[in-house]
Amino acid sequence: MMSKLRVGIIGAGSISEMHFEGYAKNEQAEIVAVCDLNEERAREKADKYGAKLVYTDYNELLANPDIDAVSICTWNNSHAPISIAAINAGKHVLVEKPLCKTVEEALAVQEAVRNSDKVLQVGYVRRFAMNTSVLKKFIDAGDLGEIYYAKATCLRVLGNPGGWFSDVERSGGGPVIDLGVHVIDVLWYLMGKPKVKSVSGNAYNRLGNRKNIENYSFYKAADYDAEVNTVEDLANALIRFENGASIALDVSFSVHAKQDEMSVKLYGDKGGAELEPKLEIIGEKHNTILNMTPKIDFPSFDFGAAFRNEVFGFVDASLGKSETRCPVEDGVEMMKILCGIYESSRTGREVVFE
Ligand SMILES: NC(=O)c1ccc[n+]([C@@H]2O[C@H](COP(=O)([O-])OP(=O)(O)OC[C@H]3O[C@@H](n4cnc5c(N)ncnc54)[C@H](O)[C@@H]3O)[C@@H](O)[C@H]2O)c1
Repeated sequence: MMSKLRVGIIGAGSISEMHFEGYAKNEQAEIVAVCDLNEERAREKADKYGAKLVYTDYNELLANPDIDAVSICTWNNSHAPISIAAINAGKHVLVEKPLCKTVEEALAVQEAVRNSDKVLQVGYVRRFAMNTSVLKKFIDAGDLGEIYYAKATCLRVLGNPGGWFSDVERSGGGPVIDLGVHVIDVLWYLMGKPKVKSVSGNAYNRLGNRKNIENYSFYKAADYDAEVNTVEDLANALIRFENGASIALDVSFSVHAKQDEMSVKLYGDKGGAELEPKLEIIGEKHNTILNMTPKIDFPSFDFGAAFRNEVFGFVDASLGKSETRCPVEDGVEMMKILCGIYESSRTGREVVFE
């Protein structure tokens, strides 16, 4: 019988629960260790999921030769250092999105991975959703033809989670790096990962975190502190690719909109598609335009199932049974785009990649 993948989870906050759940459901994996700066938080998860070892210093967890793989679910500023240390310690790595905070960091992670025989998977969970997988089949079969335009909107009216999310030192940015990363990545993946040519963006900080708002509740990070807010609250961008395709984007934590909005759409020369708010495929037959609604269990992003597929994919890749769907190279290209949006906004100019 093949031995199980022995997993350690670093960062035991909100999203780690989805990783714990995924490994717990996977017969090829065993959760053996948990690490968090907050020992009580780590111990709680360890007790819940039967992990024997609890750490507060990830270096100690990584020094344990009985751990084969780690999930990194910490603040964004520690993704690169922990990923590099883990790869160098001989562990496979599933790192939450975004891969890191800067392109330089992303290249350093890539170098470490390329110098090793370990798997690094970036947590692009939307690639594992049912609606994405179904649409990918249609795209791969040529039903959309060549996709030349795509757009995504992810607007929160009152959705700055505070805590580390709104501290640029720990997060690297606001809605661009937190929400934009998901929707740009899923579009880019479905478009066939074209090479980015240039980025133009505008980031605004006009409303701040809207801490004045009364009588309307919203999600707050565990360490919410309304006084700290050094990230943008809204941004837009136009991303150009070398094959001539483009993506238009807008994202927000705070905006004077009537309601939250989530839309992800792609347009090809043979057909189009809406991934969110729910999967629709648009085509043309016998000179008639067709709007097709796939009859599937999850026409919108299915959080639980997508995370389970992501973790299962990582376990298989770590055990050498398949290639990871989200390699480190995809993290590097995304960091170029995300950091390009911030740089373009800062300089007031388009950022062109050579
Ligand atoms: N894929 C998704 O849909 C999704 C959703 C939410 C968050 N995330 C990502 O997951 C990560 C964590 O987000 P969260 O919402 O769980 O945050 P969180 O604040 O709830 O949890 C983060 C935890 O990491 C711990 N931590 C931070 N630095 C550490 C270090 N150096 N060593 C050990 N522990 C450390 C903190 O103490 C905290 O318990 C972020 O990168 C975020 O972007 C992804």
